[in-house]
Amino acid sequence: MSPPRTGQGLLWLGVVLSSVCVALGSETQANSTTDALNVLLIIVDDLRPSLGCYGDKLVRSPNIDQLASHSLLFQNAFAQQAVCAPSRVSFLTGRRPDTTRLYDFNSYWRVHAGNFSTIPQYFKENGYVTMSVGKVFHPGISSNHTDDSPYSWSFPPYHPSSEKYENTKTCRGPDGELHANLLCPVDVLDVPEGTLPDKQSTEQAIQLLEKMKTSASPFFLAVGYHKPHIPFRYPKEFQKLYPLENITLAPDPEVPDGLPPVAYNPWMDIRQREDVQALNISVPYGPIPVDFQRKIRQSYFASVSYLDTQVGRLLSALDDLQLANSTIIAFTSDHGRQSMDLVELVSLFPTLAGLAGLQVPPRCPVPSFHVELCREGKNLLKHFRFRDLEEDPYLPGNPRELIAYSQYPRPADIPQWNSDKPSLKDIKIMGYSIRTIDYRYTVWVGFSPDEFLANFSDIHAGELYFVDSDPLQDHNMYNDSQGGDLFQLLMP
Ligand SMILES: *[C@@H]1O[C@H](CO)[C@@H](O)[C@H](O)[C@H]1NC(C)=O
Ligand SMILES: *[C@@H]1O[C@H](CO)[C@@H](O)[C@H](O)[C@H]1NC(C)=O
Ligand SMILES: *[C@@H]1O[C@H](CO)[C@@H](O)[C@H](O)[C@H]1NC(C)=O
Ligand SMILES: *[C@@H]1O[C@H](CO)[C@@H](O)[C@H](O)[C@H]1NC(C)=O
Ligand SMILES: *[C@@H]1O[C@H](CO)[C@@H](O)[C@H](O)[C@H]1NC(C)=O
Ligand SMILES: *[C@@H]1O[C@H](CO)[C@@H](O)[C@H](O)[C@H]1NC(C)=O
Repeated sequence: MSPPRTGQGLLWLGVVLSSVCVALGSETQANSTTDALNVLLIIVDDLRPSLGCYGDKLVRSPNIDQLASHSLLFQNAFAQQAVCAPSRVSFLTGRRPDTTRLYDFNSYWRVHAGNFSTIPQYFKENGYVTMSVGKVFHPGISSNHTDDSPYSWSFPPYHPSSEKYENTKTCRGPDGELHANLLCPVDVLDVPEGTLPDKQSTEQAIQLLEKMKTSASPFFLAVGYHKPHIPFRYPKEFQKLYPLENITLAPDPEVPDGLPPVAYNPWMDIRQREDVQALNISVPYGPIPVDFQRKIRQSYFASVSYLDTQVGRLLSALDDLQLANSTIIAFTSDHGRQSMDLVELVSLFPTLAGLAGLQVPPRCPVPSFHVELCREGKNLLKHFRFRDLEEDPYLPGNPRELIAYSQYPRPADIPQWNSDKPSLKDIKIMGYSIRTIDYRYTVWVGFSPDEFLANFSDIHAGELYFVDSDPLQDHNMYNDSQGGDLFQLLMP
């Protein structure tokens, strides 16, 4: 693989209340050449920082690591809500979930909240050819069943034909039969159509790059990969990179003692898979048998390595087509988990606009439902140290500059069947989190889905974890603190 030598990378890994990568090459001169820069936005589903570039010793991710090596890597990037559709709509519009009013999968922001511009729409309106491959917007109502076409894209978005088999019975079990399993290493020659969605997406994206090579207009190409989202359906040869005996358990596999029940995710989606169902794991707290824990981790890592080879093919094509030196590469996940500077995925919009030399949308007023184009995130250009660019107005010492916000809805105080993905009408509680350099602070408060109002005097539970002494967030200090006041002070 020979990833771009001179391409400008921007590596962001959205993490649930935790860390990430952003990368950028030092050669970028956003406005100093007459040629507009292209944008390649790579969005990965449920990737946490289990990557070599984040110091993971086990995971093999040479292509992403190579991109990271000449990129600006964000160590602490946070998704605004750790669910596909709300997260994607949030960062693609540059608005927080409380502005898009999408916390589930069931509404289209243009009619439900406000007619907000998207990143690709903005580039399209500024003369770019904009293209979507794979899972960029979440499919379905949340993008009007069209991935927000025609507003966001110059052509109809591409979806790989083999996507429809992802959740079907294509995984060979120990009984020799085909199942819809969580763990699904496959022989690619054996699966329907003889291919996998992410392979098809890579091929399509490369074809589009070839077409764009001779285009007079700059391009904005978004490529959305499915893996490592469950099920772990990947070419079985990647399993060999991770012999089971070498797989460690998570450093903290137990449910933490002080965790309020409202904060617990009962992972209902995982339980529905046939191989998991067969384990008869008790709801909601488990435990998952230890050997199955190892298998889950093995297949997650294998899926990451499979994804990494797809990213390698794509970046290699960019390089071979000599497009790497004129293309900004941004790499992010919609969410993942793990745990320098804190950044939020809502800042992707103003930052990409700024890097490409487009006018950075103005800050949003509050509220901003009536404003089509504005930003709730920050232009992070200052991280790239371009002296000649106008920097975001920035007050050193302003604590709000060093805070990332996230939120998560719940239907009840105790884990139940829809706790991980409640529909809007069932939301009774909203967890609001702030993450600073020093701590993560969450309050779970009453929420009215009719009025979209959180009631901060109705606190159901709280969490407080200190980064230095408890990086894995296992010791909830909320009850030892008087933090409620602090939270109110820091809300945006
Ligand atoms: C929403 O924005 C799109 C794109 O700018 C525009 O074409 C459309 O007319 C707007 N719709 C409404 C209802 O304002
Ligand atoms: C959503 O899609 C429907 C059906 O294609 C279309 O009639 C409607 O205008 C779209 N909504 C918006 C806001 O464009
Ligand atoms: C597995 O662990 C052994 C012992 O530490 C090591 O020698 C071997 O290289 C590891 N295998 C892989 C594929 O990492
Ligand atoms: C599943 O577990 C429950 C108790 O946790 C037990 O009562 C039940 O018999 C088990 N079912 C099977 C099929 O093993
Ligand atoms: C990128 O590199 C190619 C081949 O070396 C060259 O022809 C092209 O002018 C370069 N483009 C920019 C913007 O530097
Ligand atoms: C880029 O150049 C254009 C045209 O000269 C100018 O209007 C714009 O403000 C410049 N953008 C930046 C970020 O310097």
